[in-house]
Amino acid sequence: MKFLYQDSNLLENEIVETIETLKPYLDHLQKVAEDKKYIFDESSLNLAFDDQILSSIQELVGEKVTPKLKYIIDIGIGGSNLGTKAVYDALYGYADVLEPNRYPKILFADTNDPEFLGKLISRLFSQFKDPDEVLINAISKSGGTTETIVNLEVVIQNLKSKFPNILERLVITTDEGSKLWVKAKELGVEVLPIPKLVGGRFSVFSSVGLFPLLSAGLDVEALRNGALASQGECLQGGIGNPALVSAVILYLQSKNGKAINDNFFFHPELESLGKWYRQLQGESIGKVNTGITPTVSIGSTDLHSMAQLYLGGPKDKLTTFVASFKSAEVLIPQDLIFPLVEGIAGKSTETVMRAIYEGTKEAYRKNNLPFMEVILDDLSEKSLGEYLQFKMMEMMFLGHLLNVNTFDQPAVEDYKQFTKVILNKGS
Ligand code: PA5
Repeated sequence: MKFLYQDSNLLENEIVETIETLKPYLDHLQKVAEDKKYIFDESSLNLAFDDQILSSIQELVGEKVTPKLKYIIDIGIGGSNLGTKAVYDALYGYADVLEPNRYPKILFADTNDPEFLGKLISRLFSQFKDPDEVLINAISKSGGTTETIVNLEVVIQNLKSKFPNILERLVITTDEGSKLWVKAKELGVEVLPIPKLVGGRFSVFSSVGLFPLLSAGLDVEALRNGALASQGECLQGGIGNPALVSAVILYLQSKNGKAINDNFFFHPELESLGKWYRQLQGESIGKVNTGITPTVSIGSTDLHSMAQLYLGGPKDKLTTFVASFKSAEVLIPQDLIFPLVEGIAGKSTETVMRAIYEGTKEAYRKNNLPFMEVILDDLSEKSLGEYLQFKMMEMMFLGHLLNVNTFDQPAVEDYKQFTKVILNKGS
């Protein structure tokens, strides 16, 4: 992964001075990573090293995943599913519709969408002949999120009429001791724990992400290796540390009036990765009188819908481009049937995308719009692991600079409580 920031329009000394202020916090993160104990808010840094978590997941996958498995139903919302979806969609999910016979697939049930649930029951469940064709993983850190418990109940009850022993195909991932944990144990359902101080949006390298991803055949060791490589870089001092520099640029640019951070992914497969980051930034630093509004754009698609606003509208955005230029080779024929665009004959579609990417950056420069770049080596588990870890560490530094609690989300709890009150009144 390469991180570039020279176009950010900030003075080098301003960046260096702000990095210096983070030195004590960097020392703290280094200590967290060395101690490998789950006693700090930043304990998610231990996950990529935690071989115990990995081996318990490998063991459970060995028991639950057979060649018959076709669908993993991942029930969870927010931090409990966004990381898994980010990785799955980048590598398989986006193209699932083109590969109907590739299994196992992950289906995500997050919100309580009656259309989706209805079709899941009437179109998919009705086709199952063997319980081993399905594996359900319900994930809730608190163990009491309305949407997750509703989806779990609907899915299990509808499968139970067909497969009375369906609870054997259920794995619950939750905090040890939560009400969901206690109930699952009572019912004899397999349970995977989430370390107490690892919050949802920092949990992708825990059982939350690793269990469903490994069940779907993804290389979770490569994902962890990417995280470890990134962690090594992001624990260094100075301007060679991409997480430090990125956090500092986001911070300084927000003080310069850039209240929006547009994350512009030049791969449609990475849209879910963008949404994972949107939550990470939104929940971590969106606190009283503080926050940067994260947005997600897809290149080149959104150039045809948002470029006018981005290039010609208010200069209130800092853009982070994310791209990779080592993907499948698709060639444009030499002899064109529609010779309407010059300079494309015989070139690869990647060359075209690169030209669009470079052209977009030129347009941003011409309009004096600041941007950073994250160039992934490729679209692989390792590169995704690098990006995920880099961004989680960037957010720790940014939260520290903004003097907020990066790890809580009190306003989300507000809406959850009000929903429960309304449901209890029966309205
Ligand atoms: O990041 C967070 O903490 C939230 O987005 C939660 O993950 C989300 O609300 C789901 O909560 P839970 O995992 O407790 O069901």
